[in-house]
Amino acid sequence: MSASEAAALIPAGSNVGMSGFTGSGYPKEVPAALAERINALHADGFDFKISVWTGASTAPELDGALAAVDGIEMRLPYQSDPACRARINAGQMDYIDIHLSHVAQFVWFGFFGKLDVAVVEVAGILEDGRLVPATSIGNNKTWLDQADKIILEVNNRINPAMEGMHDIYYGTALPPHRKPIPLVTPSDRIGEPYFRCDPSKIIGIVETHAYDRNSAFTPPDETSRLIAGHILEFLAHEVKKGRMPENLLPLQSGVGNTANAVMAGLEQGQFENLTAYTEVLQDGMLHLLKRGKMNFASATAFSLSPEAVDDFNRDVDFYRERVVLRPQEISNHPEVIRRLGVIAMNGMIEADIYGNVNSTHIRGSSIMNGIGGSGDFARNAYLSFFMTPSTAKNGQLSCIVPMVSHVDHTEHDVQVIVTEQGLADLRGLTPKQRAKVIIQNCSHPSYRAALQAYYERALRESPGRHTPHMLNEAFSFIQSWKAEKAAMEVEKAIHSGLAATKVPA
Ligand code: COA
Repeated sequence: MSASEAAALIPAGSNVGMSGFTGSGYPKEVPAALAERINALHADGFDFKISVWTGASTAPELDGALAAVDGIEMRLPYQSDPACRARINAGQMDYIDIHLSHVAQFVWFGFFGKLDVAVVEVAGILEDGRLVPATSIGNNKTWLDQADKIILEVNNRINPAMEGMHDIYYGTALPPHRKPIPLVTPSDRIGEPYFRCDPSKIIGIVETHAYDRNSAFTPPDETSRLIAGHILEFLAHEVKKGRMPENLLPLQSGVGNTANAVMAGLEQGQFENLTAYTEVLQDGMLHLLKRGKMNFASATAFSLSPEAVDDFNRDVDFYRERVVLRPQEISNHPEVIRRLGVIAMNGMIEADIYGNVNSTHIRGSSIMNGIGGSGDFARNAYLSFFMTPSTAKNGQLSCIVPMVSHVDHTEHDVQVIVTEQGLADLRGLTPKQRAKVIIQNCSHPSYRAALQAYYERALRESPGRHTPHMLNEAFSFIQSWKAEKAAMEVEKAIHSGLAATKVPA
């Protein structure tokens, strides 16, 4: 059927599970057709909103289109769309930001209510009704199992040779019936290459022919190269100390240019036979596989530039032997991450002098994206890095502050903080020792003296001397005139995302 016919089958007020993870594998046409329908109904004075559950971020054709017409009541989990972000921060859209590994099980537990409809992009449908997954898996298995009704988008742009690259694990269960997940190396296959799907639930099939979002990457700048350099030097030191094998441990890398810079550094560096147990496969990891530096990568989604997509399609047979895509409840599973001893590397907005990390909020109240999988990896990793430039907004904001304005990763989950200034190894340190090394190694020289002065006065004046703070001054760094002005610029940008989004015709 057409996308409009399929969109007409989605009732107002329903919970809709959509495919999509970091700009790949999202439905390309039904959400936009639904947005068009909602827009028309709103114009006629009818209320119409749905709740949208996904794997992670999607694309303008999904989040952007639905948010632009005020069609989303509640969104979960990770998002990074300007229109969504603007609505959430304006208080016009509810948003639940949860760990990505929690989503599927919370749905099975019934914590979010009934899933009414699934809208899932697939690469194909087998004669026996099983489905060939697309460029991301995310929560699709759970959506297909849990939804009352299913709409499929079959995208014939997806390289058919991807078939066989996926591994869908059907061994999960509800407590107290859970069994260990039998995955002991990143390359293990523990499931099936296809989704099972009850054909009687399918209410519509729409054929599409469109590429994923595929955003280009800017080449690593000096700051990300420096951050990557500190991390690589530290990893070499850990190998020398005998705390890691020569081929390291499986790598997890967050999205973005700094993460890609670390991968680029690994490409030039000394390490061989690497593996990855990560969430998203970006260009950098494909390059490592191609150059023979990495043997295998496990993820739940691709997030590639157009050039990397071309390379992937050209050499899909090579990559199919070296890449597996899994459901996000497995790619991000605490049990597996802990067992494999993953090295986690994620971006952040700010860290405080005691090692608490804020990955999601500006000035404590405006959301940027969401926690994504960073918490799944950080808490369970063998070693957890958080990285950021030491300043933001042309140096007007320090990313090292006395106290973070929002906490996503507590001091207990953060082992190494890295900025272009240097690296703070927090393992085995007390809060006061951490403060010294973070201020000394990671803060920008223009803020270092002020941070040191805060710490020393807190040491004298704080009522407790374990984690010394002066609560009346703890947020002084973001409350100074200069910092407020700069942070307000960031907030203005994230609040104005709606204006930039086109309402579908
Ligand atoms: N105070 C205020 N604003 C700040 C800031 C600070 N301390 N640090 C950064 N910003 C602003 C930047 O100025 C930029 O806004 P602008 O474009 O208006 O200038 C914005 O925040 C993003 O910063 P940027 O340096 O471009 O960061 P990034 O693209 O590397 O993203 C996160 C950083 C934290 C937003 C991103 O890593 C994220 O969403 N993380 C959470 C999810 C995650 O870790 N996923 C991976 C798990 S697998």
